[in-house]
Amino acid sequence: MASHAITVVVGVRRVGKTSLVKASTHDLPRIYLDVRKFEESRYITYGMFLEELRKALNVFASMDRKIVEHLKAVKGLKILGVEVEFSLDRSRPLLTSILESLDRWAGDRGEKLVIVIDEAQELIRMRGYSILPAIAYAYDNLRNISFIFAGSKIGLLYRFLRVEDPSSPLYGRYMERVELKPLDKEKSMEFLRKGFEEHGIRVEETFIEEAVEKLDGVIGWLSYLGLKVVSRGVSRTIIDDVVEEASKIVANEFCKFVDAMGSKRYVEIIRAINREGATWSEIRRYLEIRLGTKIYDSELARLLRNLIDNGFIEKRDDLYIIPDPILRQASRNILC
Ligand SMILES: Nc1ncnc2c1ncn2[C@@H]1O[C@H](COP(=O)(O)OP(=O)(O)OP(=O)(O)O)[C@@H](O)[C@H]1O
Ligand SMILES: [Mg+2]
Repeated sequence: MASHAITVVVGVRRVGKTSLVKASTHDLPRIYLDVRKFEESRYITYGMFLEELRKALNVFASMDRKIVEHLKAVKGLKILGVEVEFSLDRSRPLLTSILESLDRWAGDRGEKLVIVIDEAQELIRMRGYSILPAIAYAYDNLRNISFIFAGSKIGLLYRFLRVEDPSSPLYGRYMERVELKPLDKEKSMEFLRKGFEEHGIRVEETFIEEAVEKLDGVIGWLSYLGLKVVSRGVSRTIIDDVVEEASKIVANEFCKFVDAMGSKRYVEIIRAINREGATWSEIRRYLEIRLGTKIYDSELARLLRNLIDNGFIEKRDDLYIIPDPILRQASRNILC
């Protein structure tokens, strides 16, 4: 992944993006920022972003003190003892200056430095500042740095990067795109079999089949089941218990989104799509019956786009579907 200046890694929740990104860069100098913590912030300031960057730099500097020598050249950045500190006023450091000093460090070492921003789409709510010009500057001028942007809100991530927008700083820059898919049935079964084998746990083949049927190939759910089995042992209800716990987690995530958007119509749409998926007109009919009011095309388009952008639904040909197996199973009964 580090061989490209910019890589974008997308995929539904718990499909293994973070693990993949970390595994594929584990032997490279890497600065890792997870900005999911901003999910619930109404907006993000440059200062909030800088604070995350500062923490990530400190983690990095604790492993390689040499970097500190290079960082010292950045205006608005101080080294206090062993900690990197930023001025918070007008003289706070420029992102481009920080990137330049990192690039010089990597150049001296003859290595490529990878900067990972996980759940980068959250930065779309940054006010009064955009990191995109600095990224574009790095793309054009700093050969020793590469970026990986990962995210589970696929539509939002692409909208944040403004890849299709000619006025975007990143427009026309090549980005390597990686879409991580759930494992197929065979691979999912193998994943569980191997995991159990490694822990010396014997399970029936039918147990594995049932698990994969209910949890699909989402590696996070499969490994969650594995963990439960390892700690509690196999039981008749353990798969359903895991599905139930998972449903609560997923419903909670979905309801947070519904709250943030301020419309219960999203719940009705998820119910309409249900396990089988639904077409545009089926969704509209369902909504109109449930709400007893006419739904305009523009309104439905907006609602569906928000659901797609946030990764809760996908469009396959003419059908809208719910990619997450747990949300799919819970869809009919979901209450927010
Ligand atoms: N290759 C793998 N082998 C074993 N376990 C894995 C593997 N990949 C991921 N996992 C496990 O699955 C879970 C989800 O993985 P991870 O956090 O990487 O996914 P993600 O797509 O980043 O999820 P999120 O959307 O929540 O950020 C983690 O608990 C992780 O340990
Ligand atoms: Mg992740």
